[in-house]
Amino acid sequence: MRIDLISIFPEFYDVLDLSLIGRAQQDGILDVRRHQLREHTADRHRTVDDTPTGGGAGMVMKPEPWALALDDVLAGASGRPTLIIPTPAGAVFTQRTAEDLAARDHLVFAAGRYEGIDQRVTEWAEDGFDVRPLSIGDYVLNGGEVAVIAMVEAVTRLVPGVIGNPASLDEESHSDGLLEYPVYTKPAVWRGIPVPEVLLSGDHAKIAAHRREQQMRRTRDVRPDLYARHLARRGGDLA
Ligand code: ADE
Repeated sequence: MRIDLISIFPEFYDVLDLSLIGRAQQDGILDVRRHQLREHTADRHRTVDDTPTGGGAGMVMKPEPWALALDDVLAGASGRPTLIIPTPAGAVFTQRTAEDLAARDHLVFAAGRYEGIDQRVTEWAEDGFDVRPLSIGDYVLNGGEVAVIAMVEAVTRLVPGVIGNPASLDEESHSDGLLEYPVYTKPAVWRGIPVPEVLLSGDHAKIAAHRREQQMRRTRDVRPDLYARHLARRGGDLA
C-alpha cells in the first residue's frame, strides 16, 4: 500500500518509522512518503495561510499550495487514490472505515492546520481522488497530523503482513461491534488478585463463553450505544 502524507509539519510522521509500521516499510509492504506543503509555495515566506473570506477568527489554508502538492502526488500515481482530509467536520472514522481504507492501494492524507483548508480544495480534488473528509472524534485538535497518525495506524495494521499474528485482529474491540474482553497474563495470583478461575480450566468452550459474556457486560456498562446496536442486530441480551 502506498501512503502519501502532506503537511507543513511532516516531522510529525517520524513516529511511523517505529514499531510495526516501521518494519512494514522496511519489508516493502508499506510505501510511506512524506511531503512538505510549503515546497509548493512561490513567495519568500512560503505562505500557506490567509484570512477567512467573510471575516472571522483564525486563518485558513490557501488552496493553491494544496492543489500543487496533490497534483504532484497524482502525477506519480496509477489509478484513483483516496484522499483523506482530517477535519472535526468530517464523518466519524470507525473500525468499518479502517477496514474499507485497508483494502485500497493508495491513500493520501492532507493534514490542515489553522481553521482548515479552503473548502474548494475538497471540491476540486474530486476530479482525481476519491475524497473522504474524516474526523477521529468529537473534539478539536490543533491540526490534522495526530488524527492522520491515528488513522494510518488503524488502517495499516489491517493490511496483510503488517501484524505478525493476524488472528489477534479477530477478537479485538470493535471487530464485531463489541468491546474486547478483559485480558490477563501470569502469575495466576498477582498482589492478592486472582485471574478468573475459568481461564485456568483448559476448557476452551467454557473460556470462550466466559469471554463472550465479559464482552457483553463491558460493552453494556461502558458503551450503551454500541450495546443497543449489537442487540438490535444479534439479540442475546444479558440476564
Ligand atoms: N483536526 C482537528 N480536529 C480533528 C479531529 N477531531 N479529527 C480529525 N481531524 C481533526
